[in-house]
Amino acid sequence: MEAITLAIQSVIQQLFNIDQAVQLNRPDPQFGDFATNVVMQLAKPLGKNPREIAEQLAEKLRETDNFSEVTIAGPGFINLRLSARSIAKNLDQLWTDKYGENHDGAEKTVIVEYPSQNIAKPYSIGHLRPGNQGWAVKRLMEATGWNVITDNHLGDYGAPFGVWVVGFLKYSSSEQLDNGGVYELGRVYIETKKALRDEQERGESQMAGEVQDWLLKFEAGDEEAVKYSKRFNEISLGHIHEIMDRLKITTDYELGEAFYAPKGKAIVKNLLSRGIATQNPDGSVIVKLEEYGFDVPLLVQKSNGAALYATTDLATMLYRESTWHPDRVIYAVGSEQQFYFTQLFAMAKKIGIQTELVHLWFGLIDQINENGTREKMSSRKGVVLMEELLNQAEEKAREVVNGRDVSDEDVKKIALGAVKFSDFMADRRTNILFNWDSIFALSGFSGPYIQYAAVRVNKILRDNKSPQVDIFEYDFESEKSVLLKLSEYPEVIRLSARDLEPHKIATYLYELAREMNRYYESTPIATGDVTDVQKQARLGMISRVKHVFEHGLNLLGIEVPGSM
Ligand code: ARG
Repeated sequence: MEAITLAIQSVIQQLFNIDQAVQLNRPDPQFGDFATNVVMQLAKPLGKNPREIAEQLAEKLRETDNFSEVTIAGPGFINLRLSARSIAKNLDQLWTDKYGENHDGAEKTVIVEYPSQNIAKPYSIGHLRPGNQGWAVKRLMEATGWNVITDNHLGDYGAPFGVWVVGFLKYSSSEQLDNGGVYELGRVYIETKKALRDEQERGESQMAGEVQDWLLKFEAGDEEAVKYSKRFNEISLGHIHEIMDRLKITTDYELGEAFYAPKGKAIVKNLLSRGIATQNPDGSVIVKLEEYGFDVPLLVQKSNGAALYATTDLATMLYRESTWHPDRVIYAVGSEQQFYFTQLFAMAKKIGIQTELVHLWFGLIDQINENGTREKMSSRKGVVLMEELLNQAEEKAREVVNGRDVSDEDVKKIALGAVKFSDFMADRRTNILFNWDSIFALSGFSGPYIQYAAVRVNKILRDNKSPQVDIFEYDFESEKSVLLKLSEYPEVIRLSARDLEPHKIATYLYELAREMNRYYESTPIATGDVTDVQKQARLGMISRVKHVFEHGLNLLGIEVPGSM
């Protein structure tokens, strides 16, 4: 649309010798594709009657080949209907194999952190959104010219290790661990945590003491402790990687809390000596944030000297600063941690970090339970495991393509498409209502609906060769709404990246898919009543639709199946 604004500005320049910015808005389609009230803004500087300016401007605009209709409405409005051919030509000029992308990021560096699972338990649905949103934002940053570094900030420090060893010795065995892998670790962790709570209620602390002992042993490099830690981590990380492979997400780094904890303690010392942090009588250390509007300080060290979540985050921020000098850091973490991150970012200011820090937060995943009420999604056993969710999604995908010749690989793409797209159906800040039927709805706002539209486009292109003719002999009137949609794509990426709102891409792709369905209904593409010029023009446009479907879905981490 920039081309249109520029065309109008240049006509104004020619006529009145004024450099006037032009705003376009979308009127009711019966009046035109765009409208502008620039005439009102010109009336004053020109000292002329708006009607007169409007007439002069409209006449000149009609002479350009951009518009099929230019009308004056009221005293100062001009309605414009674009000529389809000019949209097609404009698109042709803008077209590159990276159509849609831009350089807004100007080679600046951004670190995107996701999905940052906790290693004590199996990968659960709780880390679905961090992965999906984080990945989409990474792709959006790449598509807008940022230099992107990704990091999985694993929750691998502290209590889990001690809990595991104590629990393993009490409730498990090497054999059980070999058979159950991460699920056995998860079971042991939950059982031990419960035993620890019970113990605390009884006012005892023996097990809790053992947990601390193992932690201390580990920190001191005790051989047996290191051996356990290695084994548990291997099992847990192996599982995390397996699921991330299935989700088709990766990160460049995997620097978890354990990596930062020792660094954090040294930093706390330093902050104390500089008077930025304050030590309480019990030995714990806080950073006061009153000057940033927080009554509650941030606790950065326990009274026994142990590092906390905030200690590791403090170290993480400083390490990233000195290692990568990022211009921006994005944390893809759920809405539950909003307060924590506002505190953390205030502390960052206090210690002199100037980098733009963004908490990319999102709502929870809900379900409707058996009583018909909405609640946080869970399974009979408690949390929904990611592995089970993906298995179930693949079953559903198989039902969807039932009877058709669709490869296993494509079934997986459809399953993943449905699950991931559900993350982008609304603004990320709203809670998702997870519903198996709607995420697979082939006739609604769903991943598979858009994948299907893309598969159809690909099939048309596979089945037809286009003849060599001059497509601009054609008027493109039947293609106009699809062409207009295609023209919007770069702006959709720009806004989606600016606001870190991948759902805007999802909405756009849905609109494009719907536009395509309308188009098929009214227009024969390659067979039936078509001339060579029409055929090539239409196939040419469709190959651009293919690009936008694939590109847009790719930004959301979704692939197009070969068939479905
Ligand atoms: N492991 C944490 C969780 O699952 C998320 C970590 C977020 N990142 C951070 N730098 N604090 O809740």
